[in-house]
Amino acid sequence: MLKGKRILLVISGGIAAYKSLELIRRLRERGASVRCAMTKAAEQFVTPLSVSSLSGEKVSTDIFSLTDEAEMGHIELSRDADLVVVAPATANILARMAQGLADDMATTLLLATDKPILVAPAMNVRMWLHPATQRNVEQLKQDGVAFVGPNDGEMACGEYGPGRMAEPLEIVAAIEAQFGKPLPKHLMLVQPPPAQSLKGRKVIVTSGPTHEPIDPVRYIANRSSGKQGHAIAAALAARGAEVILVTGPVSLPDPPGVKTIHVEAARDMFSACFLNLPADAAIFAAAVADWRVAVEASQKLKKTSDTPPTLRLAENPDILRAIATTDAKRRPTLVVGFAAETENVVAYAKKKLASKGCDWIVANHVGEGSDTFGGDSNRVHLVRQDGVEDWPRMSKAEVAAQLADRIAAFFSESAPVVKLTKPKISKGRS
Ligand code: CTP
Repeated sequence: MLKGKRILLVISGGIAAYKSLELIRRLRERGASVRCAMTKAAEQFVTPLSVSSLSGEKVSTDIFSLTDEAEMGHIELSRDADLVVVAPATANILARMAQGLADDMATTLLLATDKPILVAPAMNVRMWLHPATQRNVEQLKQDGVAFVGPNDGEMACGEYGPGRMAEPLEIVAAIEAQFGKPLPKHLMLVQPPPAQSLKGRKVIVTSGPTHEPIDPVRYIANRSSGKQGHAIAAALAARGAEVILVTGPVSLPDPPGVKTIHVEAARDMFSACFLNLPADAAIFAAAVADWRVAVEASQKLKKTSDTPPTLRLAENPDILRAIATTDAKRRPTLVVGFAAETENVVAYAKKKLASKGCDWIVANHVGEGSDTFGGDSNRVHLVRQDGVEDWPRMSKAEVAAQLADRIAAFFSESAPVVKLTKPKISKGRS
């Protein structure tokens, strides 16, 4: 399919530029020849020497290079290819392409070419979702530019959502599609932002651990990273929901488009959740500490005696149970809990569904080697009154997207009975 095809690959400056090296190899394996042009910013991420070694061709970087222009002028270079691919395509190069700017070698080639162009965007999720970028993408599509990706996932910067560059083999498939090979079903050219399937719905999400103070400098905590809860909040917001995220201490950035309330202890999380009712749905992904120290010391505990101090514990309020069993006027229509189990995952989750009074339980495996705590993937079962769905191991972003889609489907099926809610001003610490 790609044998003898000439690809001009424009590499712009993003962390995903390292994947372009693999893309070059995959294209050459398939018999294509690849010439590359790099922006100045791309040279900060991969060197022209690596690109040239892998492509076996000279790399174009400088529009004013007399030697390059003498060998093959930029107009000739831009027309010599069968297809021009921009990977990674940063927000900046998309903006310059949409404007028709030609202020460096890469954009000059893109403006001068008379060949089809395929771009693989890669950028931070907020930059991708920004109206300016979406406007530029729309403009480029109208101009006939094809897109592959971006994919959903965790960014190099730690945020979740759409913005990751498509994988090299996905880009290869999209290139083959340009030459007439049918595109694999899962690979849409430009993944549309999810439909606004939760517009008008208000959802509370809890995430992260809680810190239970022992004294002013010490606390009891757990290993939750908050990645799953934050990804759920982001996925719900991407579908148009008004999302209130109540999070314990985590080292993640606040998800885009989400009102985030930062709390420390279980009791703060409890108040923030109740203060934000009513809501259409509430998702309890936080790993709330079951116990706190009964009496928090007002001064730092000192090693004054020979015997270490004894910590007397008191049980924390169960936020999930309290909201699931609150009066019908305040109870969200859909209450979803999480269950972290090391064995008998589904059986324990079914028991928890009944004992907590919630509607669904997302049961996850946290046994040894499961990668769930702090990791990027999760294996879950969605346990409902009417049955259990076993989901394969997926990234936390994919679990979040699936769950958000199930929630949207739930509301579209039960739409007539759902009450409309007014947003409330939160008194929580934010
Ligand atoms: N949860 C909560 N408030 C608490 C404790 C738990 O909201 N004080 C929520 C969690 O966010 C999660 C679910 O309840 O959705 C987990 O239930 P929990 O009883 O904590 O589960 P385990 O700790 O796994 O319980 P057990 O040790 O009994 O298995």
